[in-house]
Amino acid sequence: MADKKQQLIKIGLLGLGTVGGGVYKTILNNFDVIRTRTGCEVTVSRVLVRDLEKERQLDVDGSLLTLEPEDLIGDASIDIFIEVMGGIEPAKTIILDVLRSGRHVITANKELLAKHGAELLEVAEENGVHLLFEASVAGGIPIIRLLQGYLTANRVDGISGILNGTCNYILTKMAKTGRDYSEILEEAKLLGYAEADPTSDVEGYDAAYKLAILANLAYDVQVETANIERQGISQLSSADVKAAKRLGYTIKLVGAAAKEQEGVRLSVRPRLLPDDHPLARVDDVFNAVTVQADVVGDLTFIGRGAGELPTASAVVEDLTALLTGGDAIRRPSWHRRLEESASGAEGGEPGGLYLSAAFDERECTERAERLEAALFTQGGFVAKSERLPLGDGKILQSWLLGGVSETQVRQEWQKQVQNAPQAPTLLFLPVEGPLEPGVEWIATTGSSYHERNWTLDSQVL
Ligand SMILES: NC(=O)c1ccc[n+]([C@@H]2O[C@H](COP(=O)([O-])OP(=O)(O)OC[C@H]3O[C@@H](n4cnc5c(N)ncnc54)[C@H](OP(=O)(O)O)[C@@H]3O)[C@@H](O)[C@H]2O)c1
Repeated sequence: MADKKQQLIKIGLLGLGTVGGGVYKTILNNFDVIRTRTGCEVTVSRVLVRDLEKERQLDVDGSLLTLEPEDLIGDASIDIFIEVMGGIEPAKTIILDVLRSGRHVITANKELLAKHGAELLEVAEENGVHLLFEASVAGGIPIIRLLQGYLTANRVDGISGILNGTCNYILTKMAKTGRDYSEILEEAKLLGYAEADPTSDVEGYDAAYKLAILANLAYDVQVETANIERQGISQLSSADVKAAKRLGYTIKLVGAAAKEQEGVRLSVRPRLLPDDHPLARVDDVFNAVTVQADVVGDLTFIGRGAGELPTASAVVEDLTALLTGGDAIRRPSWHRRLEESASGAEGGEPGGLYLSAAFDERECTERAERLEAALFTQGGFVAKSERLPLGDGKILQSWLLGGVSETQVRQEWQKQVQNAPQAPTLLFLPVEGPLEPGVEWIATTGSSYHERNWTLDSQVL
């Protein structure tokens, strides 16, 4: 962009919903601070919406609104476009048209970035303009700036983050109140923390889009979101959250990228984090991201991951970055396809496992001991275990297991229950950090058994 000092910068705003409204307000309310720091007077000159009649909680001049993308794209006086409409189309086509017309685009659209980012960035580069997307991951947290603009001399060994505020709100409330997932989900909807259709959030799709974007930047690759191992939170019971607590862990939905010898392992899964882990203490709708880099070590950012103003902050910071240093912004390179970790497809990720199942009271001990003994013969060990009565003649038996893979446990379980009509379903969650054997095993003739005093929580859930 030519010297824009002391110039009027006109913005084309694509969308005026939660984020668009926040962007509009921020540009208006922080006009002076933006002018002082960038030397530019920024105004929103046109706004694309879907419904002109819609009642808006925003004082906006109705003559700025239009239903026609061409009213913005065809207006040569608009310098920079901000896309906050969401979805793939028409957002993608509009962004491509704008980039081809030689103008910068800022977007908050994680789904579009995760699915078509490589193509959009290529077109931006071909046309000598930028596509910036700070708001697409973790709202107000400047994690894109960190990976794109700062960590250029470090190799990233891993990323782990709480990337979805809806899930974090639900899990926090489950842990603090002992209430069920579905009850808290309904409450989250009423509070505006969950969509009417919460699938994208609670099943981990939203976090997978964000993880893909972070991995693209950290490893200069193009990640297929469909290939990210994904497990949502909808199968978690309050008993599991409580059992994890008693074992010394907090369950969080974590997006994780880990550099391995032959590629990068990517997953979005509920994980057991030790209670003193930095991410375990990030509660409610907050997001957090830890980046492990080879020179600087660990960096952790915590902040508001969504909402009108935190997200608008990220969008407008992209805008001021363009106004102050557009040419210096590093272009991400997403053309190389990600080599997926060879081990990813097979036994699941290495490390500890949380395993639980709801057994009938009368068969719990027998089944649990048979499974433990079988896993022991495969090199596995139990670090800790817990039992919680579920109040309906069932017991939640949970284990922290080491030395065996998820696949091994599943295979063993299949052998044991192949003829059982109503075998309990197993829940598997990865456990962060090292585990050590905590249960004494004593070999007996014919098979292996251990000794233990099972204790039952007297409080019925
Ligand atoms: N909400 C958050 O906290 C948050 C956080 C980070 C990222 N994001 C991302 O930001 C983007 C916007 O999210 P949001 O929550 O602000 O969405 P939203 O409240 O639903 O607003 C979408 C806006 O875009 C307009 N729009 C949608 N489709 C359109 C179309 N086909 N033609 C013209 N206008 C259209 C809508 O017009 P009408 O007003 O006329 O309906 C509305 O103003 C999404 O990509 C989202 O993933 C959101």
